Amino acid sequence: MAPLQPAIAGALVWLAPLFSKGLEPVAPGRPMAEVSAAMCGRCHGAMHKEWVASRHAQAWTNGIFQREYQQRPLDWCVHCHAPLDEQAAEIARTRRGGPLAAEGVTCAACHVRGPRILAATKRPRSPHDVEVVAEMTGPAFCAGCHQFGFPKLEGARVVGFHDVPMQDTVAQFLRGPQRARPGACRACHAAGPGLHAYPGAHDPAMLARALRLSVCDRAGTLELAVDNIAGGHHVPTGDVHRHVLLRAWRSSTPEGVFELSFGRKFAPAPEGGKRLIEDTTLPAGGGWSGRLPLATLGGEPDEPVNIELRYVYAIDEHEVPRHPVGEPLWAVVTHLRERTFRPCEK
Ligand code: HEC
Ligand code: HEC
Ligand code: HEC
Ligand code: HEC
Ligand code: HEC
Repeated sequence: MAPLQPAIAGALVWLAPLFSKGLEPVAPGRPMAEVSAAMCGRCHGAMHKEWVASRHAQAWTNGIFQREYQQRPLDWCVHCHAPLDEQAAEIARTRRGGPLAAEGVTCAACHVRGPRILAATKRPRSPHDVEVVAEMTGPAFCAGCHQFGFPKLEGARVVGFHDVPMQDTVAQFLRGPQRARPGACRACHAAGPGLHAYPGAHDPAMLARALRLSVCDRAGTLELAVDNIAGGHHVPTGDVHRHVLLRAWRSSTPEGVFELSFGRKFAPAPEGGKRLIEDTTLPAGGGWSGRLPLATLGGEPDEPVNIELRYVYAIDEHEVPRHPVGEPLWAVVTHLRERTFRPCEK
């Protein structure tokens, strides 16, 4: 294999020889039977256990992905959510995939090319023939799947990318206050003793850590703030549909609900692809603040007020009839229910 120098596209860097951002399947050069996750797990038990519970392992099977994929089954989706060539072949035969596809983003997608194991260093006790890829510990490695533009289509084939990012996580990180953090993405995501848990928006502790909701009362008007205090990138980031809802209401007058959505909105661009028309996602270290006169909620003045931050994984928080996803479409990040709020300072 050619030496793995990061490729540069605009301001971005990714390891083009390893990942094509879904244009092609990943060819590990070995049959999956030899490099399945279960096989690696025989010696790497801690990594395997964490990986099984991670979204990487569930990238093909999870219901939120499957609902969208079955409506628009492009090979392009397959090459990131079940990236290996044998997984693609299985899906081409069966559409829903079988045991190979079910491994999702498996060990070999990140670590196996031909006879070699890719790693940042070779450990002293290692039995492997190692190809040293120093960049594996940096953001360029993750960018192969976590940074891409809206696709250029020829029929059902994706042949390239428009400039407007569909997922912008790595660029957000590189522009943000965490960019010099040693360990980069893995400092926050390679959690757990086996370094492969990769918790994100499906992990309640990560969500709770990421966002801080502050509320105070100034003469009957609430001053609200939502801050991204622990994300390495905007929150939400990743998939286009993800959004965070801030809601406030009194239980007796749900029709008076106050609601704001933090997310991205797009419109078709004249030259093809999409145009970003609104981005209210919360940048790392930044946030939103605003006012809410309590009277607009309706109800009785001494009735408790509910304030909730809710993370929604899909375009809508409600199930679509006939297409149940079989897993939660949203998670509560914070829920307050109070009669009175602390007075604002000054
Ligand atoms: C027969 C046992 C065994 C199997 C099977 C095995 N490994 Fe390893 N691997 C090791 C040992 C031992 C080390 C050194 C670990 C250490 O010292 O921390 C290692 C190290 C590694 C490393 C770090 C780089 C290096 O070589 O030092 C990676 C990455 C790795 N293995 C990936 C894999 C993957 C992916 C698979 C499945 C395709 C796999 N291993 C299968 C025993 C095994
Ligand atoms: C999404 C990509 C990805 C997947 C999937 C993945 N790994 Fe890794 N793994 C990495 C990265 C990045 C590193 C850091 C590189 C390094 O330390 O050499 C790493 C490091 C390792 C190491 C060295 C850990 C250490 O510090 O001692 C081992 C062993 C390993 N992986 C095994 C596995 C096994 C086994 C699986 C499947 C159960 C797996 N990996 C799945 C990306 C991945
Ligand atoms: C081969 C492609 C690939 C690579 C390389 C990769 N990922 Fe992923 N990652 C995915 C896919 C696909 C998903 C979405 C899984 C799903 O459907 O929920 C995902 C999910 C995640 C999630 C969970 C998101 C959530 O909402 O819970 C985190 C965190 C994550 N990746 C971090 C990383 C980091 C950090 C790296 C680099 C060390 C990396 N990934 C490398 C493909 C990849
Ligand atoms: C300072 C810690 C930190 C760093 C560094 C970091 N993240 Fe995160 N990340 C988080 C937290 C906290 C969350 C949970 C909140 C959320 O889901 O947005 C998260 C969520 C995610 C998600 C879930 C998607 C979503 O829409 O929320 C993905 C994917 C992800 N990170 C990938 C990455 C990648 C790739 C990098 C490196 C370019 C990275 N992260 C760097 C803290 C970090
Ligand atoms: C270039 C790689 C890539 C391609 C191509 C790709 N995805 Fe993803 N997808 C990801 C990554 C990385 C994530 C994780 C970010 C996140 O969790 O928000 C993800 C997350 C998702 C999620 C959110 C899953 C969850 O757990 O909440 C859905 C749904 C999804 N993708 C659907 C699709 C569909 C449908 C296609 C094809 C039209 C597709 N993706 C193509 C990389 C890709």
